[in-house]
Amino acid sequence: MCTRDRDDDGTNQQPEEGSVAGDNVKISIIGTGPYRVDGAMELCDADGNRIETQDGKPFFLCRCGQSANKPFCDGTHNRTDWDPALAERG
Ligand code: FES
Repeated sequence: MCTRDRDDDGTNQQPEEGSVAGDNVKISIIGTGPYRVDGAMELCDADGNRIETQDGKPFFLCRCGQSANKPFCDGTHNRTDWDPALAERG
């Protein structure tokens, strides 16, 4: 269930007790591109609204920050000089 994850003052809220999300979900970094998400899960925006995905099908989240269809990858990363090394943990 999507819930808002921050109070208006920007502090984090605790997840709803008893809510389960993300069982059997796999998130993979795709080379120089997006995150691939596999598994049944719910994707929520910052206001707690559900973002529709196709149940059971993988989807790709933008990692470069330049997609016109955020949070999803639209392939823009292929047409920019974005350096994925900058997004890696150092
Ligand atoms: S990772 Fe593909 S558009 Fe950002």
